[in-house]
Amino acid sequence: MKTANAHLQRCFSPARLNGLELKNRLLKAGTFEGMSPGGVPSQRLSDFHRRIAQGGIAMTTLGYCAVTNDGRLNENMLYMHDGLRPALTELIQQLHALDTKVSGQMGFGGGFSKNRQLERKRPLGPSFGINLLGVAQGMLFCDAMSLNDIKALIKSYQRAAAFMKSVGFDCLEIHFGHGYGLCQFMSPKTNRRTDDYGGSLLNRMRLPLQVLEAVRSTVGESFPIIGKISLTEGVSGGLDYDDAVEIARLLDSAGIDGIITSGGTSTMNPMIMFRGDSFLPPMLKAEPNPLMRMMLRLSGPFIFKSYPYEELYFLEQAKRIREAVQCNLIYVGGASSNDSFARLMQEGFDFIQLGRTLLSDPDLPQQAQSSEHYASRCVHCNECVATIEHPAGIHCPRFG
Ligand SMILES: Cc1cc2nc3c(=O)[nH]c(=O)nc-3n(C[C@H](O)[C@H](O)[C@H](O)COP(=O)(O)O)c2cc1C
Repeated sequence: MKTANAHLQRCFSPARLNGLELKNRLLKAGTFEGMSPGGVPSQRLSDFHRRIAQGGIAMTTLGYCAVTNDGRLNENMLYMHDGLRPALTELIQQLHALDTKVSGQMGFGGGFSKNRQLERKRPLGPSFGINLLGVAQGMLFCDAMSLNDIKALIKSYQRAAAFMKSVGFDCLEIHFGHGYGLCQFMSPKTNRRTDDYGGSLLNRMRLPLQVLEAVRSTVGESFPIIGKISLTEGVSGGLDYDDAVEIARLLDSAGIDGIITSGGTSTMNPMIMFRGDSFLPPMLKAEPNPLMRMMLRLSGPFIFKSYPYEELYFLEQAKRIREAVQCNLIYVGGASSNDSFARLMQEGFDFIQLGRTLLSDPDLPQQAQSSEHYASRCVHCNECVATIEHPAGIHCPRFG
């Protein structure tokens, strides 16, 4: 029987993710930084990731790198195109110089966008519907993708993957969760198609699996590809824990290198992703658009449900995925102490992603390694989540 110390040692020992060597098993979770005004990476963005790198994380993640302009949620997000080559190459080189690997989260918002620079009139999702993010901007609806749109999207993932590998990313994280584009296809709540891309879970998984296959064929067998899923969307008629087991099995059989077990949807049930204090009040305070504020006030109580915080809040459901798949399993959600890190290693998880705790203390990996009973000072007030559109970008208002 291994002691907690032995499990902790495993957490802080080098590990491999497909062909990639990582100096420990702690990874920065994708947290859209809000530091790319006009879609251009800023000095602040590189300072932010360098600070995280200096704290000893094995791999950081550039949050929400949209695969196309129209895949952005707003015009201040990055989308993968050649104009960003010099800036991203330099940013990644700086992080490599600090002995930190870099992953890029491949995002596509589907029918959920307030990007004023859309090339089309409306964002595209699996089915026609309300564009929940864009209503206050007058972008009321999203359209259903045609088969040609789907083909074009798969090509966009390929183009983005080739670009991201060429600028030096060490790993790609495909976003399959949180109610974004691919998740909208997977979910019976948002996918009402009657063609091969709708109906059964296998049909709803067709596009996500085609995207995975396309990205794999672009980057090669030895390049790490991981994917973030929602264990549950937390809404009636949406994806739930049993679906997540099947989804994970399908991604595993299709050759994904690692699955990140998150949950919730940004639009319909965000609090299940975070737990703890609702970030509706700080969001209302920060929201500049009066119409959006009014909508948030009206819809907030239905969307921002109450889930008390508990350490490792996704553990029990994520363990079901552990039993179902062979690939690496990457835990995310309320891992904030050495006790939790040891427990996750003991339960057979391979890596741990950290979000809010790293915002409150970028030195977490070093601190945790040097102090056996380390526990994060993050109090999951979730005020950091409401800083996403802050001019200074995301930060911890208490300790940052
Ligand atoms: C400020 C902020 C921004 C986030 N942005 C993203 C994002 O762009 N993509 C994503 O998949 N998750 C995002 N998340 C969710 C985190 O990746 C993570 O799943 C969540 O914070 C739970 O992990 P934690 O308990 O370690 O914080 C964000 C979280 C925070 C706090």
